[in-house]
Amino acid sequence: MQGLMVKDDAVKSIFTENLQTHGAYCAREEGLKREEEAGKIKFVCVSNDKIDEHMIWLIELKNIFARQLPNMPKEYIVRLEMDRRHKSVMVIRHNTVVGGITYRPYLSQKFGEIAFCAIAPNEQVKGYGTRLMNHLKQRARDVDGLTHFLTYADNNAVGYFIKQGFSKDIFLEKKLWHGYIKDNDGGILMECKIDPKFPYTDLSTMIRRQRQAIDEKIRELSNCHIVYPGIDFQKACSNKEAGIPKRICKLEDIPGLREAGWSPDEWGHSRFKYFNASTDGTVNPKLTGFMLSVLKQAMLAHADGWPFDKPVNVRDAPDYYNIIKNPMDLMTMSRRVESEQYYVTLEMFIADARKMFANARKYNSPETVYYKSSTRLETFFSSTVQAGVQSFLHFQQ
Ligand code: COA
Repeated sequence: MQGLMVKDDAVKSIFTENLQTHGAYCAREEGLKREEEAGKIKFVCVSNDKIDEHMIWLIELKNIFARQLPNMPKEYIVRLEMDRRHKSVMVIRHNTVVGGITYRPYLSQKFGEIAFCAIAPNEQVKGYGTRLMNHLKQRARDVDGLTHFLTYADNNAVGYFIKQGFSKDIFLEKKLWHGYIKDNDGGILMECKIDPKFPYTDLSTMIRRQRQAIDEKIRELSNCHIVYPGIDFQKACSNKEAGIPKRICKLEDIPGLREAGWSPDEWGHSRFKYFNASTDGTVNPKLTGFMLSVLKQAMLAHADGWPFDKPVNVRDAPDYYNIIKNPMDLMTMSRRVESEQYYVTLEMFIADARKMFANARKYNSPETVYYKSSTRLETFFSSTVQAGVQSFLHFQQ
């Protein structure tokens, strides 16, 4: 089989198709941005200006605050919300307020104080809180000329504010804000610096472009975006049940391996290399002899070998193959050994045995005979393999 180099065009499509442009954050932000563009939701900033529609929205928002911030006296919420120095950025859907943030911009000090922030209970964790904050930041920077936000967050809200870029470390000089915002014993003072350039209401596009740029750079340095066809084991097998190939598949036959930097010199970097296949890929006869003796004389003849002598019958355990996706048994292992086409390294043989023992312990509970047998047989198997390797080494010296 020849390693197939994928042409440049194909590479490009693989690259763009495989590129992950979305995290959960971007997916939510882009979803809401699309709804906004389609006119299904809107973000507005209003204050007590006596316009009927605005006043209705402010009352609706006050109700959300009163419900979501039970520790705040309702009169206090109304007083601040209706105070003309305060503004409220709200998200509105079907002319109903979904949530909002009330803040007071201190224009001369270039910072704003967030007084209240809440989303209606049945609309939370859908991204509204994040998008609302992004709209607030963009507006505060571009319309009010602010550089920072400060807020007293209660314990429950600290996590949300941290995710919105707030921190408990206050970098803003105290003289700029001290005496402007009211001290609040029950809350933790948090600060957020507003970036002078960020496209806050279109962060998802910025993140997508950054991901693309990084991916292109990686593509220049590595081949990891090239997908090679795998080996078709169905076609390559002479015994499908035991997965035995028609001929031994050489490592260099695996498409893409050389291109990824592998060289034949690395062949044989195994703990048991004196047992491994020769460089032409044929199974070492010593390895076959050793595996046969372990299987037949040690495992099949062992008192705990009987539960593993052949594949589990669905009549005995109807749900077995729903739970155990990679079954293994001593008969299959024997066929693989006898084929002299399968276990080209001792590790492969050991891995099958370990899979068989692990399957038994996964399917059966610890008090069963099958579970106990698997533990005892595995101990015996390990010591037999170890003793075999040791004596081989001794004989070599
Ligand atoms: N603590 C920790 N994390 C929180 C959180 C909280 N109280 N509320 C939301 N988050 C997380 C979300 O899980 C999400 O995380 P993710 O991006 O890793 O998935 C992220 O913050 C933003 O979620 P989002 O859907 O944009 O927020 P939201 O629409 O649910 O609004 C609040 C967040 C805090 C405004 C809303 O939950 C709320 O009204 N809470 C009650 C009132 C309140 O505590 N207000 C703040 C003090 S004034």
